Formats: sequence, structure tokens, C-alpha cells
Amino acid sequence: MNMLLTKSQIGLDGVPAAETVLSHVDGERGELIIAGEHVADLAGKSGFEGVTARLWNGGTGTTLSEANVRASLGAARERAFARLPDLLPATRGMSIVDGFRAAIAGLRGENGLEHEATIVGAFPVIAGALVQRAKGHDPIAPDANISHAADTLRMLRGLKVEPREVAALDAYFVTVCDHGMNASTFTTRVIASTQADLFAAVTGGYCALTGPLHGGAPEPVLEMLDAIGTRERIKPWVDDALARGERLMGFGHRVYRVRDPRADVLKVAIERLETDGADLPFAGEVEAYIRAALRRKNPDRPLETNVEFFTAILLDALAIPRQAFTPIFATARAAGWTAHAREQQRTGRLIRPSSSYVGVMPKS
Ligand code: ACO
Repeated sequence: MNMLLTKSQIGLDGVPAAETVLSHVDGERGELIIAGEHVADLAGKSGFEGVTARLWNGGTGTTLSEANVRASLGAARERAFARLPDLLPATRGMSIVDGFRAAIAGLRGENGLEHEATIVGAFPVIAGALVQRAKGHDPIAPDANISHAADTLRMLRGLKVEPREVAALDAYFVTVCDHGMNASTFTTRVIASTQADLFAAVTGGYCALTGPLHGGAPEPVLEMLDAIGTRERIKPWVDDALARGERLMGFGHRVYRVRDPRADVLKVAIERLETDGADLPFAGEVEAYIRAALRRKNPDRPLETNVEFFTAILLDALAIPRQAFTPIFATARAAGWTAHAREQQRTGRLIRPSSSYVGVMPKS
């Protein structure tokens, strides 16, 4: 016995576990295709509702329009707000990230139907309520007549939001709404493959997202930028962290061997936001130094900037509290998770890999 798997085998590197029409990541070329479009093109021409329609149509075989999705998400946000008194007690005393997990675990089908919009519509309502509660305020009621991004920002921040801020959050939502077989999507598909319901599948996906090696990275990115603080401290801080063997958040990726294409889309969105809240030149200097330092440390393993570095800067510039970054990531990614869960239920089969036993064998 005692077969030893390689590191790549243990991480399932490059092992296809599903056929999907939803998105494709080409790690060598640094390309991301979502529902038939390159991510950079999509962020320029389609809002979150438009991309969500394409993902849901791909996952379920329906022909929803952007307007259908906009209407169903608006109505779902209102229904979720009405259900907050049932959902929030389970989150008492918890952080925003943990409270979000407890609240979404309480979502259920409505009138015997489990609908994608129930989930995607509820996410920003729950995130907004938890953020307001952390400030000692009551939740802000949704407005079904505005876009999902605009309403998300309203519920998180308060009533006044600028169109340029909405455009930045919408660009973020589009950019991160789906990303091939990442850890949280894989988790979602594994759960859906057992024919468990959509709510169970997406709750599991969120749990996988919260880890710092996946969607939990942006808050630590901001902490890193804060800890570095000044230009003079970039070199000593980064060199010390790497000497201690630490992983620098916002860098490296399992699939990309070149720069994550989403990083550039988000950088453009931050530039368009034209805010004093983001010190892009400083972040750029940190980024450049870290990339060079990682090249020196691991010359054979390309480690480039990933989406989370600019996610942190963008969400911070929008004055979204850093403790809510992962639920906001989930708010966008829920479009992809729900589509993948449906696609898995429709076209997949039970996902049940094997393991290599390296334990003790019975004596007899
Ligand atoms: N900082 C420093 N060293 C790193 C980093 C990093 N960010 N990423 C990888 N390395 C090092 C590893 O320590 C390893 O070094 P070693 O061979 O000397 O032990 C080497 O590079 C190879 O790493 P892998 O094991 O091949 O990396 P893996 O594919 O397992 O990890 C991951 C990918 C988890 C994203 C990793 O790069 C990382 O931890 N990055 C920081 C966290 C982060 O940014 N997460 C968000 C990812 S994007 C997303 O999920 C939305």
C-alpha cells in the first residue's frame, strides 16, 4: 500500500470535474470567459443582471432577459427583507462573516419552489442588515426599482450613493460572478450532485469561500497595506514577511500562471471611480515590489497579482467595511453558484472521488 500522491494530485490540479457552459479559465494565457465573453468585454457592456441572466440561462436552459432578472431580484430583495426577523436571530453575537453564514443557512424555498433569485436577492439584504447592526442601526429596506448593485450599496452604506460608485460595484459584481471550478463552486457542485437543494449547495459554497486562500483574502490584503503604511516600509515589511514564510494575500493563483485578468478589470474600475479613498500609486508600488520579491523567492513558480488585491482596494474605496468583503464577494458569486448547482443537477452525476489509503492495514 502506502502509495504517495503528488502535491498536484492532492490539490486536484487540472482535473476536470464537470462539463460546463458557464465559464472558462485559461491559466496560461490569463483569460477568463464568462458565458461566452471575455471578462473585460463583459464588464464594459453588461450589468450584473445581464450576466446573471446569461449564467442562469446556461445553467437551467431558460431564456430569461436582463429585465426578467432585474425584476425577480428586486422582488426577492423585498421578500428577504420581510424575512429578516426569522433569519437574524441565528446570527446574534457573531461577526459579519459568520453571521452571514448562519443567516443564509436559514433561507428556504418559497411556496414549495427553490428559486435562484431567492438566494441572490437575499444575499445583499442579509449583508446590509449585518453591517447596519454592527453600527447599531436598523436594517435599510431595499428598493426593488433600482439595480442590484445600487441597492446593495444603499443597504450597506446608507441612503446616498453616487452613480459612479454604483458603476464600480457593478463592474466588481460582473468581474467576480463566476470563475470556473474554483473551490467554492466545486463545493457547491459536489453538494448539488447529491441532489441536495440549492440552499444547501450555496451555503456550502459560501463556507468554502470564507478561507483566506480563496474569498477571505481581501480583508487581509487591506491589513497588509495598512501594516506597510509608507513607501519606505514596503521593502523591509515584504522581505520580513517572506523570510518568515508567510503567504502574501492577493498574490498567486492555482490556475493562472500570468496576471489574473480580473485584476486589470478592477484596476480600471477603481481609476474610473476617481476617488480620494484609494491610494492607487501606493498600492501599485506595493504590488510591483511584491511581484518582484515573489519572482526572486520562487523563480520557477509564477506568482502574480490575483483578483483579491484590487478587490480590497475597490471595496474599501466604496467605504464598504472590510469585515463585509467576503459576504459582498458571495453576493456576486451567488449568481455563478446557483447556475452551477442547477447545471450540476441537470447534467452531472454524483461527484464521488476516491482517496489513497496510507494508513495502517489490519493485521489479519
Ligand atoms: N505569497 C508567498 N508565497 C506564495 C504565495 C503567496 N501569495 N502563493 C504561493 N506561494 C508559494 C508557496 O508558499 C509555495 O512555496 P514553496 O514551494 O516554497 O512551498 C509556492 O509558492 C507554490 O505554491 P503552490 O502550492 O503551488 O500554490 P497553490 O496553488 O497551492 O496556492 C493560492 C494558490 C492558495 C492562491 C496561493 O497562491 C496563496 O495562498 N495566495 C495568497 C492568498 C490569496 O491571495 N488568495 C486569493 C486567491 S484568488 C481567489 O480565490 C478568489
